[in-house]
Amino acid sequence: MPLPFVPGIEVSGHVRALGPGVEGLRVGQPVAALTIVDGGGYAEVAVTAADLVAPLDGLALELDVAAALPSNSTTAFLVLDRVARIEPGESVLVHAAAGGVGSQLGQAARLLGAGRVVGTVGGPAKVEAARAFGYDEVVLRAAASGWFDVVVDMVGGATRRDSLDLLAPMGRLVVMGNASGAEDVGMPANELWLTNKTVSGFNLAAFAATHPEAVGQALRRAVNAAAGGGLRVQIDRLPLTQAAEAHRRIESGGHHRQTGPESAALSSTRRGQTGRDSAREPSCAGPRLREGSRLCEAAPRPRQAGRATRGAVTRGAATRGAGASPAARARGRGGPA
Ligand SMILES: NC(=O)c1ccc[n+]([C@@H]2O[C@H](COP(=O)([O-])OP(=O)(O)OC[C@H]3O[C@@H](n4cnc5c(N)ncnc54)[C@H](OP(=O)(O)O)[C@@H]3O)[C@@H](O)[C@H]2O)c1
Repeated sequence: MPLPFVPGIEVSGHVRALGPGVEGLRVGQPVAALTIVDGGGYAEVAVTAADLVAPLDGLALELDVAAALPSNSTTAFLVLDRVARIEPGESVLVHAAAGGVGSQLGQAARLLGAGRVVGTVGGPAKVEAARAFGYDEVVLRAAASGWFDVVVDMVGGATRRDSLDLLAPMGRLVVMGNASGAEDVGMPANELWLTNKTVSGFNLAAFAATHPEAVGQALRRAVNAAAGGGLRVQIDRLPLTQAAEAHRRIESGGHHRQTGPESAALSSTRRGQTGRDSAREPSCAGPRLREGSRLCEAAPRPRQAGRATRGAVTRGAATRGAGASPAARARGRGGPA
């Protein structure tokens, strides 16, 4: 990881300044935003592409709740709508259903017209927590059975391999994380061919770098859904002095909330997105993408680099972490402005 390191992939706050040519936003406006491409959200002022900003004015959303939406809730809509291409009435299985992103996927599936929505959890203690996020059924991961049109896996390892057996013909497995830290799992292409199954991958950081408009659209959808009561995030508020405790909770995997210190502070760190745990969970986050890491070198270069449509957000709250490279900061992006 290049030092000094400014983590932070999502923020909320008020617009401090707009880059030339930015339309539809105004100084002083309350917003939620992704800073996932260059990182830098754990700072008093963060800079991001205008496309990755969602206005909050007129919406019944507290800034600290809004700060928990840009990464996981946006991802949930993109995974189901854009990657799995969910159809009304289809059945969905979500692993780690009590986790940060799992808690959003079940609700997003419902909003997108899914039929039966089932969640899996690693132990009995999380069954009720997951059920509270609107799953029809929550089962222990080892007991998952049946066929589903869509399966979403962010756990990896044996769960990923077993997920193939849970796919109905024409079913789609979306691979979007590796929370277990397990070795990568090879996918048997011949089996996919012979059984009419599809495996897709999704990474928000890489997609935001190449398709900021699509990500912004999903972000605004998530924000509006949360404001309308159709999407619930549960957050823990901690003072900045307990930032280390916030990270401990995130890294334990034992929580089902987004954890964030109150006001201008940091909270969760997605494994792999900080670079700290990249052996467990590879990442295509912005700085690594730009450096052409082996895992990401095939990804197209970000389109908006050098675009004038950027502005600064004065942060009210921030959650999660990815870092800004020194090069990004030197360009005046991804760090305090
Ligand atoms: N691709 C993307 O764009 C994208 C976006 C958001 C998140 N993610 C990824 O999705 C995964 C989950 O993120 P999150 O924000 O939901 O994290 P989280 O709130 O910490 O939840 C992770 C869940 O993974 C499960 N898990 C299984 N094995 C684990 C282990 N060895 N250590 C810790 N947790 C373990 C746990 O659920 P059980 O106890 O039920 O097993 C835990 O609740 C991460 O890998 C993250 O990087 C990817």
